[in-house]
Amino acid sequence: MPNKPTVYATRAIPSPGIERLEESYDVEVWPEKTPPSKEHVIERLSELDAHGLVCLLTDDIDEAVMDASPNLEVISTYSVGYDHIDLAAATDRGIAVGHTPGVLTGTTADFTWSLLATCARRTVEGYEYVRDDRWETWQPELLTGPDLHGATLGVVGLGNIGAAVAKRAAGFDMTVLYSDIDRHEEAEQRIADAGVDITYVDQEEVFARSDFVSVHVPLFEATRGLVGEAELRQMQESAVLVNTSRGPVVDTNALVKALEGDWIARAGLDVTDPEPLPADHELLEYAPEKLVVTPHLASASIETRRKMAEMAAENALAGLQDEPLPNSAIEDAS
Ligand code: DGY
Repeated sequence: MPNKPTVYATRAIPSPGIERLEESYDVEVWPEKTPPSKEHVIERLSELDAHGLVCLLTDDIDEAVMDASPNLEVISTYSVGYDHIDLAAATDRGIAVGHTPGVLTGTTADFTWSLLATCARRTVEGYEYVRDDRWETWQPELLTGPDLHGATLGVVGLGNIGAAVAKRAAGFDMTVLYSDIDRHEEAEQRIADAGVDITYVDQEEVFARSDFVSVHVPLFEATRGLVGEAELRQMQESAVLVNTSRGPVVDTNALVKALEGDWIARAGLDVTDPEPLPADHELLEYAPEKLVVTPHLASASIETRRKMAEMAAENALAGLQDEPLPNSAIEDAS
């Protein structure tokens, strides 16, 4: 019996992702917690004559990777974001590219709210205060912060996740201002129907008028550094910036200046540039008083990460069987 075609996976993903693929294909999985080098991925794709590649957002999938195996039919990323994959190169080569949209929308929106609340109400500082045995008594002005309820939330990018974040503002009686390349009237209506006062304004107004600004744009050339010095200077000194999209959407050097100069009150980052953020990075000098950082956790609910694995497997299987992918990044990007 001939060998089954091979799939290379750059990391283990939650069950039943790999198991689904193993029903019909030979699957080799990089066993470490940290990513394989690009050279290693190229070597394994070539030696295995791989037909499929399952990757994560930490893998740089460029032409050299795609050309490593002449039979590569599908790249399936275990992420909704596909900024780490050269889609044009995949299209040129007729390689299908799958991703995992939708499933992590609510989970990421929930997490965004946890960062908003953590930054506003100084939860991390509170924990450190107790841990460091500084809690002597109840104090009228101990670790006070701004209210979320009744405040203005600015949403930059009203895609699926931005809209889910905006909709959750109903629970906090917040007013929402949003900016995007285009107005999204349908989404606006859904959010308004949920009880949120939402208005489309230009981006400058979002930064200038919001008490909290949450960023929800995909990373591409036009959004790299979208939150830079100018935008941070437009924000109010009491305002909070939260980023759960992609690290390079916020200019790290500009943010350091903003925190240093008190242009804004606080930032909450689930994504950073660089990522991972080294423990000696200058940004961390501002934690926890002005900065809360988490390690790209926004989609990390047990259920969502499991569903993402199923979707990644389904995309890979469809590509390997020459069928249209249930979730094609190439189609979704066009
Ligand atoms: C994604 O899927 O792109 C998120 O950033 C991680 O879940």
